[in-house]
Amino acid sequence: MLILHLSDLHLSRYGETGTWSAADTDQRCGEVLHQWERWEIQGLRSGRKNRPAKLRLVDPEGVVHKLRSWPRRDDDKAVDRLLALAMERHETSAERLIVSRPSPEELQGLLRMDPANTNLRFLQMLDQVLRVEPDLVVITGDITDNGFGYELVRHYLAPWIESRRLMAVPGNHDSYDMLPRKGRKERAAVKDARFRAFAQGLGLTLGEEGAWVQRVEDVALVGLNSCKPPRTPLSASGMVSDSQLRWLEWVSAEPELRTARLRIGLVHHHLLRMPFALGKRSPIEVAMRLRNAPAVMRACTAANLDIIMHGHRHHGYMVQLPAHPMVVSSPSSTLGCKFARRDYAWVLDLDQEHPHPLMHDFAGLRADMRPGASVLSRRLDRLVE
Ligand SMILES: [Fe+2]
Ligand SMILES: [Fe+2]
Repeated sequence: MLILHLSDLHLSRYGETGTWSAADTDQRCGEVLHQWERWEIQGLRSGRKNRPAKLRLVDPEGVVHKLRSWPRRDDDKAVDRLLALAMERHETSAERLIVSRPSPEELQGLLRMDPANTNLRFLQMLDQVLRVEPDLVVITGDITDNGFGYELVRHYLAPWIESRRLMAVPGNHDSYDMLPRKGRKERAAVKDARFRAFAQGLGLTLGEEGAWVQRVEDVALVGLNSCKPPRTPLSASGMVSDSQLRWLEWVSAEPELRTARLRIGLVHHHLLRMPFALGKRSPIEVAMRLRNAPAVMRACTAANLDIIMHGHRHHGYMVQLPAHPMVVSSPSSTLGCKFARRDYAWVLDLDQEHPHPLMHDFAGLRADMRPGASVLSRRLDRLVE
């Protein structure tokens, strides 16, 4: 039984990433200067002079995509550039990518224009990693960048969802904003409801705080929700609540987990501080960490988990501490690995007595960074045959 570990897809409505603002939160009401397919280019009045001071591009859902200063008189290309951006975004909307999947050539062309587009990179990645025909797919959070884009997963991984072989936990991006903007709590509630609806569609039964357990043949999988927002703004840190840890202790004695041959835990935030760096200091952990990581590791060890899979840092590594679950950290499956600067996903053969992650490379657009098929991925190909 092969398990494919994906993480940090950061999907969105158009494949864009980053913070966004709703057009109606800006009091300087927008005068519509141009319209295209329900996208609008609006002029924003300056308070003092009561004449347009800024241009902004607003999508059909009322989200601002670009804000730029009012063009100088001789700059008549400003509006064209915003229109071109609207057309580009329109092409890569989740909705459109579902109605008609671009051919590999079209995908390459679209990626050339917008190489960091996560919706496109998701399709490109799936084209290649699904060739290993995984029996199980897990996603360890940051499925979306801002709570939009679940429909792409639902559509493109439908066979695994229908057979209840896709499992996921939420990431901070699926749960809360980092910026202390007005309405943060309300947005967090909406995001939580969206993730819950997605998880329900996967057939997962979430506890009050988001934990779940699922059995696939003789393998048990446990999901923990580490997205408890921090009090401090500008932080993406997380925490697994005490009640989830108590539940883990309880469930470890239940037949679902106790009788399993292999027990796998999924969580978004990392349990170990980055344990190494080549000749450099380890990356700073401020605003990223799992605030109660030692307690979570103790609870997972006591529950006899064999493997813990997580994402969040966009760094791939695996660590086996003696007498602890093996920790597998996934890079971002769309934005890559900060450590190795190449695109890959971990695949494990769960039929082995001690499953070990194998690196499955997939060729993205940055061909210059790609060293070619690795020995491990060739081994993986043999394993699938
Ligand atoms: Fe992420
Ligand atoms: Fe994250």
